[in-house]
Amino acid sequence: MLTRQPDFVDNVLDLMTLKVLIIDDNEMDRLVYRRCLSMHETRVFSIEEASSAQEGLVLYNNEQFDCVLLDYHLGSCTGIEVLDQIVEHNPVSRPAIVMLTGFGTIDGAADAMKRGADDYIQKSTVSVESLGRAIANAVEKTALRRSISSKQQYLQIANEQLSKQNEEIKRFYHSVSHELKTPLTSLREFVSMVHEGVAGEINNDQGDLLSTALESCDQLCTHLNDLTDSVSLETGAFRLDLDRVDPAQVLDKSMRQFEPLFESADISLSCQSDAELPLMQADEARIIQVISILLANARKFTPAGGSVVLKSERAGPDGNAIRFSVADTGCGIEAKYINLVFDRLYQVSKEDEWGCRAREGLGLGLSIAKQIMLQHGGELVVQSVPGEGSEFSFTVPVSDFLARVA
Ligand SMILES: Nc1ncnc2c1ncn2[C@@H]1O[C@H](COP(=O)(O)OP(=O)(O)OP(=O)(O)O)[C@@H](O)[C@H]1O
Ligand SMILES: [Mg+2]
Repeated sequence: MLTRQPDFVDNVLDLMTLKVLIIDDNEMDRLVYRRCLSMHETRVFSIEEASSAQEGLVLYNNEQFDCVLLDYHLGSCTGIEVLDQIVEHNPVSRPAIVMLTGFGTIDGAADAMKRGADDYIQKSTVSVESLGRAIANAVEKTALRRSISSKQQYLQIANEQLSKQNEEIKRFYHSVSHELKTPLTSLREFVSMVHEGVAGEINNDQGDLLSTALESCDQLCTHLNDLTDSVSLETGAFRLDLDRVDPAQVLDKSMRQFEPLFESADISLSCQSDAELPLMQADEARIIQVISILLANARKFTPAGGSVVLKSERAGPDGNAIRFSVADTGCGIEAKYINLVFDRLYQVSKEDEWGCRAREGLGLGLSIAKQIMLQHGGELVVQSVPGEGSEFSFTVPVSDFLARVA
């Protein structure tokens, strides 16, 4: 029945003339409202009248009004029914609605307000001022409602666009990393073969140059893996391959990977572990990845001559977890940055890094490590003293079966 879509008016109160539709079956009452509105000092009202709900809805559908004055009792039909039709059809861009209630219909007025009326006025209190004020309030409320709704729509559209762009960027990262990884792997393989003398003997200088090339390949590969991991953690495509894992093996593999790197940076790397730790329930490759991220950071943010300790120990209330930690004597992190370092792409500004080496990397390591640990049901935490060093640690649950027999 209701088909008209009124145009959006941002601030209806700026209009000189307000168009009002009076729907009331009492002719005397209509006359009173018309006279009150015509006597208003600051505003001009253009008025249409209807003596029944049907007549009122026909007018409503054919013309555009700023406000509807709606009688609560309309003979065969109630004002509430008309109100429901108008509100249901167009909850936002409909005109303002003021209910005109008789004596003793205060509950009805409250009901009308709940159903969407913008204001109400008791017929016995109608005057030039009260009617003008009620219409002004209702029109202002309506303008506000429209403005909020249009801003919400704008935000929703902006949000949808951003989500779409975000998805596209993620897909782009993912495919670029994949496309680059394959040629990089064969490049590394060939460089390695030449380095090992497979293609003929090489001298020391050539060996050094090829070692640097291999390091660069490994660094690039780590960045590409970080990018794909970051995207798959974000999209929920990341899966752990849980198994019973020996913590001693994890330490051993990590140390073997990092010892030469620390040696070349002139930083001492040592390992401490409780004896005979039980097996853990974990994804071994991912735990090693987390330790690698922490050791790479410790190496990067500790000056030459410093030291780093990789530790594993029994933890948890019943010893049901293993705690791994990486402690360094590096530049440390100021308290105000301590929680930010786990955010994706966050890097503490160079000036605040207490003279650490030049920044490398993408700022992805800790965010990946944190999420991997969350997926293990653990948490990655940090304690740090600026200028003295940092300790990053996380716990991994002990394998259930072995926890019972240990
Ligand atoms: N051991 C540490 N000592 C001091 N600052 C650290 C340490 N580890 C991390 N940070 C700070 O936290 C930031 C974020 O670390 P994160 O590992 O996420 O990124 P990154 O190391 O800068 O780059 P990427 O890991 O992608 O190579 C670092 O840039 C650094 O400012
Ligand atoms: Mg890092």
